[in-house]
Amino acid sequence: MTLTGSVHGVALPIQIVPSVLPCDFARLGAEIEALDAAGVDHFQWDVMDGQFVPNLTFGPDVIAAARKHTTKPFEAHLMTLTPDVLAARYVEAGCSRLIVHVEACTHLHRTLGNIASLGATAAVALNPHTPISAVANVLDLVDMVLVMTVNPGFGGQSYISSMEPKIRELRELLAARGLQDRVNIEVDGGIGPNTIAGAVNAGANVLIAGTALFRYAEGLDFAVADLRARAEAARAA
Ligand code: DX5
Repeated sequence: MTLTGSVHGVALPIQIVPSVLPCDFARLGAEIEALDAAGVDHFQWDVMDGQFVPNLTFGPDVIAAARKHTTKPFEAHLMTLTPDVLAARYVEAGCSRLIVHVEACTHLHRTLGNIASLGATAAVALNPHTPISAVANVLDLVDMVLVMTVNPGFGGQSYISSMEPKIRELRELLAARGLQDRVNIEVDGGIGPNTIAGAVNAGANVLIAGTALFRYAEGLDFAVADLRARAEAARAA
């Protein structure tokens, strides 16, 4: 299947989105404000339950406490075994998009519909081993598909470049369904100055960056601008 036009012709804008995971949790409000001022598009909270992934992170009350520090949207990446149980709490905490893992959902179609009934936007995430076909029958229920470019659970891991054909396959599927202007492709894990172009060239438009943002000696403002410039250049290439 050839893409209608080039993958670079997709209408959905490039978004640079920080993972809150590498922030200084003792100064979370100030960190959110600094990322906001640096020009990020919105925020991703990596919610981990210690069951779906071997790590434990943010409860809804932590997110609710951070809500007043920015007016930009929050999305919750639910790396949890029970997204149906938790969804309402994270919407109430101020998350306008919930991302659930296909691997954690026995009844994914129902779970995504439940998220919409809470007034939030639904998105679905795929671990590296999970094929695109796992979400082929729910693309009408989501505004984004997250293709994990690391195995979930921790920040600072290496980018899995073998996910790029999978991202391309998703982009082609969306184009074939006429959804390329409605469904975003997000990538998460190991995104930085040396990997962002490959992900964008494959078709991603929402780039989650955590560790890489904080590694720039020039600071967050430069980091966000540099990643955005690299992503836009890759799309224009
Ligand atoms: C993995 C997490 C990380 C985090 C960002 O479960 O979801 O991918 O968001 O990771 P780095 O630090 O690689 O950008």
